Amino acid sequence: MTQPGTACITGASAGIGAAFARRLARDGYDLILHGRREPQLKTLCEELQRAHHVSAEYVCAELSSPDDLHRLEERVRAEPALALLVNNAGFGTRGRFGEEDINLQDAMIQTHITAPVRLTYAALPGMLSRKTGAIINVSSVAGFLVSPGSVIYCATKAALTSFSESLNLELRGTGVCVQALCPGFTRSEFHQRLGIDTSGDFFRHFMDAGDVVDASMRCLRRGRVVCIPGLKYKFAAIAPRFLPRRVVYGLGNLYQKMRRNSP
Ligand SMILES: NC(=O)c1ccc[n+]([C@@H]2O[C@H](COP(=O)([O-])OP(=O)(O)OC[C@H]3O[C@@H](n4cnc5c(N)ncnc54)[C@H](OP(=O)(O)O)[C@@H]3O)[C@@H](O)[C@H]2O)c1
Repeated sequence: MTQPGTACITGASAGIGAAFARRLARDGYDLILHGRREPQLKTLCEELQRAHHVSAEYVCAELSSPDDLHRLEERVRAEPALALLVNNAGFGTRGRFGEEDINLQDAMIQTHITAPVRLTYAALPGMLSRKTGAIINVSSVAGFLVSPGSVIYCATKAALTSFSESLNLELRGTGVCVQALCPGFTRSEFHQRLGIDTSGDFFRHFMDAGDVVDASMRCLRRGRVVCIPGLKYKFAAIAPRFLPRRVVYGLGNLYQKMRRNSP
């Protein structure tokens, strides 16, 4: 477990990232918050500075833009007390692979893979020299599953989980650890951005973003590398390993039908 120092959180203007910002400010971390929407970031920084007497600054950057990403990398590299990096920014798409804009799918690869990899690379030298630090990569239960309609999403999240586990092994004994946080359905702006009406019964069963963050912090304390909040999502992640692939494919198709029928 890291001692409070500075935490950098990507995608902190909403949802799980904002919940990380609130929890870490309460725990006494100074904050570097990233997102694209300046008003939300500015308001959150002011709220957390007032409530918890920590310092909070923000960086606006589109993570699929190499120049923007480079600016954030430089800020992370220069931070002398970086204790925690949370690579959280991400988004979904609704279309099928062959029909969805290829540039949007490429932007997802940049946001879910290139950005966490480059920001981790920027954070590591300082953490290693201080012999302490943690990197939390917000992946997804979707990384354990297959789902038509979420082809690049599932693939990038599977890659992010794998990256986190291998890197954590590589860093054993250094004082620096890596976690793959794999939430299931969580209340945030994620589904609204896809144009999905989230007022129905189905969405009432979603996890609270604050509970996801609390689970992540518990996993960090206990040294768990892959953290899956919620019992039903642990089951959803583990079951595909034991089920015949044709059953896994059938479940993937069923989920896609449910998504297509959602308003
Ligand atoms: N919600 C779920 O059910 C769920 C389940 C499993 C995993 N996750 C993962 O959890 C993470 C956070 O998602 P969330 O549910 O909290 O969604 P959210 O409420 O929509 O928040 C997404 C955050 O990521 C930022 N972001 C998205 N695309 C970006 C880009 N290209 N460049 C820079 N910033 C970008 C957004 O910035 P702006 O708002 O400023 O544009 C926002 O701060 C994602 O990685 C997602 O894949 C979510």
